[in-house]
Amino acid sequence: MIAAQKLERIVVTRDPAGTRALAAAFAAAARPGDLISLVGELGAGKTQFAKGFGAGLGIADTIVSPSFVLMAEYRGRLPLFHVDLYRLANAAEALAGGLIDERQAEGVTIVEWAERLADAMPAERLDVLIDGAGDDPRRISIRPSAESYARYLEAVPATVEAAEIPAAGSPPAEARR
Ligand SMILES: Nc1ncnc2c1ncn2[C@@H]1O[C@H](COP(=O)(O)OP(=O)(O)OP(=O)(O)O)[C@@H](O)[C@H]1O
Ligand SMILES: [Mg+2]
Repeated sequence: MIAAQKLERIVVTRDPAGTRALAAAFAAAARPGDLISLVGELGAGKTQFAKGFGAGLGIADTIVSPSFVLMAEYRGRLPLFHVDLYRLANAAEALAGGLIDERQAEGVTIVEWAERLADAMPAERLDVLIDGAGDDPRRISIRPSAESYARYLEAVPATVEAAEIPAAGSPPAEARR
């Protein structure tokens, strides 16, 4: 058996619609209790990803970045908890507020700026790293941290530009600019 954490898929999207379409395809693989970590610089496309994921869950409401609350909840095939930690002072603050707790068991939690939670972020999750900004294409790395999230690798649509490479041999995503 191949360990899930050794697997990664890289997808290149050329416009925001491409990023949304990729995320919408992932929504088909979503199960209750899933946690998705979105990491990428300002304007990388984390919210575009969340919008596409929400559309894929059949959420009719417009998903916007929850700038003034840490978490927004939407109703779809599964509830979606959209978390944005950009303004978070520290991880303890988020945990004290019950940010990642049993309420999320019924739905999918998608977290922008997830790295701000550091070790407080549950270890089992799908990591989505978005590299690129402005009008550049985005290089989106899909990394399941546990076998239970490997199903997302199969959800990458055949129509997007994709390459499967082992994470161990790949260089770290380099910052543009
Ligand atoms: N391939 C692409 N994928 C996603 N967004 C793209 C792409 N190409 C251009 N864009 C543009 O980049 C911007 C991404 O904005 P978005 O709010 O999703 O970023 P973000 O990572 O959530 O930023 P923040 O850190 O401020 O929350 C949008 O203006 C979008 O139109
Ligand atoms: Mg955002």
